[in-house]
Amino acid sequence: MQSVGATGAVAPALIPEQAAAQTAAGVVGPGAVAITLTINGKPLKATVEPRETLLDVMRHQLDLTGAKRVCDRGTCGACSVLVNGKVAYACSILAIDAQGKQITTIEGFSMTAGKPHALVAAFVNNDAQQCGYCTPGFVVASKAFLDRNPNPTYEQVKDGLGGNLCRCGTYMGIRKAVLEAAKTMKGGSNA
Ligand code: FES
Ligand code: FES
Repeated sequence: MQSVGATGAVAPALIPEQAAAQTAAGVVGPGAVAITLTINGKPLKATVEPRETLLDVMRHQLDLTGAKRVCDRGTCGACSVLVNGKVAYACSILAIDAQGKQITTIEGFSMTAGKPHALVAAFVNNDAQQCGYCTPGFVVASKAFLDRNPNPTYEQVKDGLGGNLCRCGTYMGIRKAVLEAAKTMKGGSNA
């Protein structure tokens, strides 16, 4: 018996003795396994091969497409999400390893009761996007940055968002947006 993954790759099934040995050792796979992820406060079920990333499972199975797949190797930040409140690259986390963690995506905080988050509004106000492909990742990274540094200087914003790349070169607008959002959020309008 064989299982076919999302890419069409075929994973051979284990004989029962091998499967029992893996289970005893705490190993899962290589076939698909049922998992539950906690994303934006909701338990979401998926069936994944152990090799599948959190990013691919969110985008292909859970209808969460805000995090973007650009480099798919942990260098650009387009796939940024929050894991237990810290920014992380979803393309570099296995979905099975994300179980038991609190994952927040751009969908989880960008709009509240029809009102955009202060960061989203500031990105719009400052023309902080062109193609927009990097934008959700930047907003997520900016939220994590402001959560730990609510009164940043321009240089701190520049350094703090160093893990995210924009091929369109909208860095100036992004940094201005984060500074504007820092002021707005201190006013308590939308933290
Ligand atoms: S797509 Fe994950 S870091 Fe680039
Ligand atoms: S706006 Fe195009 S990659 Fe950043």
